[in-house]
Amino acid sequence: MSLPVGRHPGDRTSTGIVGIESVTYGVADVSRGARFFEDFGLRPLERGAHGSTFGTPENTTIALRDEADPTLAAPVEPGPTVREIVWGVDSPASLDRLAADLQRDRTTAVRPDGTIRTVDPAGYAIGFRVTERTPVRLEPITLNTIGEALRLNARAKFYDRATPQHIGHVVLYCPNFEQQLAFYTDRLGFMVSDTLRGAGAFLRCSTDHHNLFLLRYHRAGLNHLSFGVESLDEIMGGFKVLSERGWQPSWGPGRHYIGSNLFYYFRNPSGGHVEYYADMDCIANPELWTPEEFDPRAPEALFAWGGYPPPEYRKAQWELDADARAGAAPETR
Ligand SMILES: [Fe+2]
Repeated sequence: MSLPVGRHPGDRTSTGIVGIESVTYGVADVSRGARFFEDFGLRPLERGAHGSTFGTPENTTIALRDEADPTLAAPVEPGPTVREIVWGVDSPASLDRLAADLQRDRTTAVRPDGTIRTVDPAGYAIGFRVTERTPVRLEPITLNTIGEALRLNARAKFYDRATPQHIGHVVLYCPNFEQQLAFYTDRLGFMVSDTLRGAGAFLRCSTDHHNLFLLRYHRAGLNHLSFGVESLDEIMGGFKVLSERGWQPSWGPGRHYIGSNLFYYFRNPSGGHVEYYADMDCIANPELWTPEEFDPRAPEALFAWGGYPPPEYRKAQWELDADARAGAAPETR
């Protein structure tokens, strides 16, 4: 796999893309989807018969819309799923440059709110607009370790629930994997943090280890959307509320090796899974980060601790196994 590692030094992309601004799901049951996201810890912004919108403290949003809404882009898979991912861009000038570049070879449209819409090579509807995010600053958490106590004369910070601060990343199954990877890196300026040999690429457009994780698969589909919280304690506060209200975890708790983040995944009635994550690697200076290529079948491709996930998290590996059985060369090297 030839990868444009380190092509864009600095903590942001060459195109000015800074992160996920909003994600829209198309669902059959808006009220059930809304109940889940509220229990998950998002703040309801508006609610109606045909849709609900939720916000995070950084001012990014999740929208649930009736799956029959004619303004939604076509779904990439049956059932409830993601219908649009909008990426925030740092300035109107960056947005204009991005729009001009995309118009060279693809159909684009502009929504009344200024969002530029198009479709990526795997068929996902994507958009771009000038970001309205407000950086979240929380008091640092102090830990007492052996020989080094930083939290003095005070109890630990406890959480009754989670309040996700940040939409961190989205994980997408991709047909035309090479083409999809080239689009996000060469055209949109995403940087490669780590890869799974022949199976996937962790990409970032910020200092987060990944904002987009592309997995090779023969059809498009959403694996998960991930939300940043403060700590393992806050993750467990979220688990407490979700489990009390009958929502099912799908993997975790655990810590990933790639990206280092703590994780806990839940089935999302609006499509795929959602993840609470905390303590992800922060790549402030790409010159000091060495991307690694991992064996997709090795345990560290999945976790440092926390155990194996259900099979549905391992579709990219099934694909490699199917290639091997068929004696076919994988699409990527
Ligand atoms: Fe994740």
